[in-house]
Formats: sequence, C-alpha cells, structure tokens
Amino acid sequence: MTAAELARRAEATARDGRAAIEAASTLDELDEAERQFLGKSSPLHDVREAIKSVDGADRATVGKALAAARSALEAAHAERRETLEQDAAAEAATRDRLDLTLPPREYRRGHLHPVTRIWRELEDVFVGMGYKVAEGPEVELDWYNFEALNFPPGHPARAMQDTLYVRLGDSEEVLLRTHTSPVQVRVMEAQRPPIYVVAPGRVFRRDTLDARHSPVFHQIEGLAVDRGITLGDLLGTVEAFIHALFGPDIQARFLPSFFPFTEPSVEFAMSCVFCRGSGCTVCSRTGWIELGGAGMVDPEVLKNVGIDPEEYTGFAFGFGIDRLVQLLYGVDHVKNLWDGDARFAGQF
Ligand code: DAH
Repeated sequence: MTAAELARRAEATARDGRAAIEAASTLDELDEAERQFLGKSSPLHDVREAIKSVDGADRATVGKALAAARSALEAAHAERRETLEQDAAAEAATRDRLDLTLPPREYRRGHLHPVTRIWRELEDVFVGMGYKVAEGPEVELDWYNFEALNFPPGHPARAMQDTLYVRLGDSEEVLLRTHTSPVQVRVMEAQRPPIYVVAPGRVFRRDTLDARHSPVFHQIEGLAVDRGITLGDLLGTVEAFIHALFGPDIQARFLPSFFPFTEPSVEFAMSCVFCRGSGCTVCSRTGWIELGGAGMVDPEVLKNVGIDPEEYTGFAFGFGIDRLVQLLYGVDHVKNLWDGDARFAGQF
C-alpha cells in the first residue's frame, strides 16, 4: 500500500470508529467499539505495521495520519464513556429513589398475653412489698412436690392432685409439678431466713379440659419466713395485694381449711370486682371470688429443710392465675386462652 492509501485507511478508521463509539448506547457496547477500533485487531494496528515498508518523507505523513486517528478516537471514546456513566448514575438514582411522601405501611403492634400481663402485675405488686421472684423446675421430684410438704406416700391429698408421673428414676419418683408449692422447699433449702419470695409458674394435673380446668395452668406461690411471723401478717399481706391489684374497696375473706403443709390453713377469696359483693353471674351470686389457699408453714416442713421452727415461723399462699384472668376478662372457656387464635388474643 502506498503512503497515501495508508493515510486514507487511518482516516477512514477514525471516521468509522467515531461513528461506532457515538452509536454505543451502553458501556458494554462502548467497550466493544474500543476493542474493534483501538485494539490489536483494529485497522490502525495494520497501518502501524505497514508503516515500516514506507520510506523517507512519506513515513511522516502516515505517522501523522495515524496519530490524528488515534487521538480522535481516544477523545471520542473518553467523551462517550463519560456520557454513558452519567446516564447510568442518573438512571440508578431514579430507580432507587425513596419516595418520602408515600403513606406508611400499617403498623400492628403486639401485646402481652393476658395471663402474662396479670402474672407480671402480681410480681410487681410483691416486688413492691419487698419480695424476690423465685423459680423452680416444672419436672419435679416427689420429695419437693409432696414428701417435704408433708404429703406422705399414699396420702389422699396426692390423689386429689391427679399427678402426671414421668418415667425417670424409681416409679413415681419424678413428676410434672402439680403446684408451685415445691418452690417453697427449694428456696428454704437454698437460703436461710429472712425469706420473702413469690414463685409464679406453670403447673400440670391430669385434669380433663373443660371450661374451667386445663391440664396445664399457672399458679403463683408466696412464702415468708422470718422471726415472729404470725397469721396476722399473712392476712394483712393477702389483703394488701388484693388492694394493690383491685383497689381498696375490694375486700379479702378467709375461711378455715386444710393443707398438709400449713397449720393452721385458710382459703382466701376477694369480694367480686364486678358486683362489689352484691352477687352476679361472675361470682355465681355469692359476692366472692375464690382465689386460693394459704396458712402458716407447718413446723414439720421447716424441719424438713433444717430451719428451726422454735426460732422461725412463716406463712405461705398459692393461687391460680388463669382462673383469675378468666374472671377479670370474661373468658368463658380456658381453651380460648391457649389455642393461639390471634383473633381472640387481639381483643385484650
Ligand atoms: N398448692 C396448693 C394447691 O395447689 C395451694 C396452696 C395452699 C398453696 C396453701 C400454699 C398454701 O402455699 O399455703 O392447691
């Protein structure tokens, strides 16, 4: 090829290349055009190779044409790249834009289950009276659930509590606790008086499910052991927590009763929070709502945990939380509390 032909070839490549670069609509297409017109397979490359066979003064002509073509293409390429990059950035900014004028999504906040709420309110009331919160295992030993609480083997009170036994250890040695009272024994074993604790928790009995019974339910236990504790302290404490939870107009009532681990024992009730004692359907027209059992800790129980009953006395009480929740919230069947239906739970 002559020098003039080579120079024209370089100019033609610059023209075609510029057109291809300007036509590139994406960065990928631009890269492709760069490879084709500025890379190793570009006609400019061939021109550069061919320059060796051109002589003398003509070489400069070809060389100038080559340099001009290269710099024209490089300038076009740089300019196009900048435009495409700006377009891409602008597009991304539109795509990712956050529309702050959109209305917020509906925000549904959950809340505590009514049993959890009353459980915590009870804890708060007792903590306010100086009590600590204690816990015990749900799978319990016969010793804690019965024996140490003065229920000897074969005692009829065991049958009353329809125990669920667990096949572990000796037969009837391990069971699902039937009440929270075993926590009394565990606490007294682990610490010396003065003791002021409440122990809320889940308990289990072989009860058939009906409107007011469930094989799994919740109780809260209270225990105070100190020098000079009397029955008067028990009655005053029960009255104080009833007033704290339901207000000063609600009365406490005590009736004599029997529990193997307290002597004397009482059953306690509060005047009905709905009819204030005059009688309604909630309290079965009695004016009273039964809460639970209580009494002075039996000296035998104190001896079982190595506390000297001559030096210390104590009181204990226990009652069901679920039943109280049913009454307060008008839940007719216990199963409603636990079958996990959000339409039910959402009402509280
Ligand atoms: N544990 C008893 C029950 O479940 C309730 C009870 C009675 C607890 C008397 C006590 C108590 O602490 O002193 O039936």
